[in-house]
Amino acid sequence: MYDFTGKIAVITGGAGGIGEAAAAGFARTGAKVYIMDWSREALDAAVGRLSSLGDVTPIQVDVTDRAALDAAFAKIAEAGGTDILVTSAAIVKTGRILDFDPETWTKILDVNLTGTFHCCQIAGRQMKAKGKGRIITVSSVNGQIANTGRGAYSCTKGGVDMLTRLLANELGDKGITANAVAPVPVDTPMVLQVHSPKDRAIWEDQIPAKRYAKPEEVASAIQFLASDEAAYINGHILNVDGGFMASGVILREE
Ligand SMILES: NC(=O)c1ccc[n+]([C@@H]2O[C@H](COP(=O)([O-])OP(=O)(O)OC[C@H]3O[C@@H](n4cnc5c(N)ncnc54)[C@H](O)[C@@H]3O)[C@@H](O)[C@H]2O)c1
Repeated sequence: MYDFTGKIAVITGGAGGIGEAAAAGFARTGAKVYIMDWSREALDAAVGRLSSLGDVTPIQVDVTDRAALDAAFAKIAEAGGTDILVTSAAIVKTGRILDFDPETWTKILDVNLTGTFHCCQIAGRQMKAKGKGRIITVSSVNGQIANTGRGAYSCTKGGVDMLTRLLANELGDKGITANAVAPVPVDTPMVLQVHSPKDRAIWEDQIPAKRYAKPEEVASAIQFLASDEAAYINGHILNVDGGFMASGVILREE
């Protein structure tokens, strides 16, 4: 069991799915947790589920709004500054490249890539001042391979991977590590939005584990990367994928 007592953990997209599972993990293990999300309704519901686990404070903020993020992180600075940042906020819309709506393309880039950059930059400055910190970006296997119809989303996750490596490169001598987790489909509201039952059957057939990940399984990888045990792991994209990225053709036993 990890012990994050005395640490401040900030989780964007913390009111749902993987972000909420990460928030639950840090709250249970003693951290002071801030969950940032653009949805007031989702934040209220998440606090209702999380508050019995530990110290969880909601902040309503859109990760594309730099001024609002500066103000939100300034409050966290007053409380001691960010020790752990998890960037889980993202959106997805499927579509083949030749059909992709340019406005939707820009919106997805703004939230998933530029929003992640804003949070890493602001929190990274707080960590640099403290001389320590952990950044864990939530990427996807879609950042490394092309899956039909993932368009802008895949491109943002490839960008998040490179942003993570740049942070590792530039902050490694400041007591800060930056790593990404890259899941296959995870059972969250996001995946329900984009995967039909037919898509699900195809995906499950291609994953050695033959099932989607659970949010808690991604959260446990995030906790490891945030822990003292991971102090010398920097700049990695950790696939949390049931063996998907290691696999080629799968021939199941009859
Ligand atoms: N679910 C999957 O299959 C899967 C697979 C691989 C990677 N991921 C990644 O995991 C992360 C979390 O995904 P999830 O499945 O938990 O999704 P989710 O939709 O369940 O949760 C995302 C949360 O982010 C919030 N959010 C979205 N845009 C925001 C914005 N502009 N500002 C602030 N908050 C915002 C949403 O309100 C929501 O609470 C994402 O980065 C996603 O790309 C998910």
